[in-house]
Amino acid sequence: MAKTIIVTGGAGFIGSNFVFLMLKEHSDYRIICLDKLTYAGNLSTLEPVMNNPNFRFVKADICDREAVYKLFEEEKPDIVVNFAAESHVDRSIEDPGIFLQTNIMGTATLMDACRKYGIERYHQVSTDEVYGDLPLDRPDLFFTEETPIHTSSPYSSSKAAADLLVLAYHRTYGLPVTISRCSNNYGPYHFPEKLIPLMIANALADKPLPVYGEGLNVRDWLYVEDHCKAIDLIIHNGRVGEVYNIGGHNEKTNIYIVKKILELLDKPESLITYVTDRKGHDLRYAIDPTKIHNELGWLPETMFDDGIVKTVQWYLDNKDWWENIISGEYQDYYERMYGDR
Ligand code: NAD
Ligand code: DAU
Repeated sequence: MAKTIIVTGGAGFIGSNFVFLMLKEHSDYRIICLDKLTYAGNLSTLEPVMNNPNFRFVKADICDREAVYKLFEEEKPDIVVNFAAESHVDRSIEDPGIFLQTNIMGTATLMDACRKYGIERYHQVSTDEVYGDLPLDRPDLFFTEETPIHTSSPYSSSKAAADLLVLAYHRTYGLPVTISRCSNNYGPYHFPEKLIPLMIANALADKPLPVYGEGLNVRDWLYVEDHCKAIDLIIHNGRVGEVYNIGGHNEKTNIYIVKKILELLDKPESLITYVTDRKGHDLRYAIDPTKIHNELGWLPETMFDDGIVKTVQWYLDNKDWWENIISGEYQDYYERMYGDR
């Protein structure tokens, strides 16, 4: 049956990939993207679907109750998928305030609208960072949905607070919610402040590649389309009130990733520069995806060796997209973050 879905944060990295997937897989659905267009949101990303009659873009802040309620009144959504967030750990260490505002208060505002207007499903896009980190010398340990919340950064704390609020709205008000906690994504439209696109952009410009600490921290990388497909399954078939971890057992050290990018671009390893470590830097993330596999049949489809080649090629083919981003205020951020690191 045709549905109307509000996708918040749909002008960002994962949200835009989700919008594309939904319009492709559910051609009778109406997809409404609500996005504030912060530094991380880019309307040009949505250019290919702007004229699709099943798509509507609305510029608004998820914390703006009046604007959010107005949109719910107009569109009467069946499902809300909340991607909107401040998402970069380093920025949260520099200035936590906006993370608390958007990630916690924004989530509450969206759920209040869901309560007021009625909803079939509210889905919260969360992160594996709510579980904190795992030691490097215990490869047998993984995050399950039962792993205690134990956060490290203002970013992950704000995401964890939002998750607790979502579960509280389910228990207290009976709001039909689901939560997904995914590992690190990579792929097209990834904002160049994050590890993989930053290293690609710097390598192409023959600039130093700033690796934090010794580069031995481990992340569990998943191709973005696989994350989006998992969310599609959860909003349609997932059990209300449940949390689902998403990840594909693809753990890599940061230095492995950086060297792989240099190899693919045929650039020298002498570009690698070790810089001061991130404060409170999480050591290792690793997801146990047994629950989503057993309940919903989800498995990742793109293996890392293919995904990273496709991603590097995408950045080579879409220089306009990211060169435009890094030419503006991003330069001030880069100088603040890496200038005398
Ligand atoms: P992103 O930073 O690329 O995009 C965030 C989007 O949200 C942008 O379009 C921005 O304009 C919008 N936004 C920010 N504040 C807003 C507000 N107040 N109102 C409306 N829109 C607002 O982020 P991403 O990497 O695509 O992450 C999306 C979600 O997925 C986040 O909730 C993040 O916590 C979660 N997540 C990300 C990853 C990852 O590896 N990137 C992994 C797991 C979970
Ligand atoms: O695990 C999911 C999370 O993944 C999401 O919730 C976050 O929104 C997303 O940003 C990401 O967080 P990370 O902190 O893991 O991603 P980031 O790309 O910032 O860094 C990945 C690793 O690379 C981390 O160990 C820090 C390191 N790093 C990062 C940058 C930007 C570097 O060594 N140098 C860098 O310049």
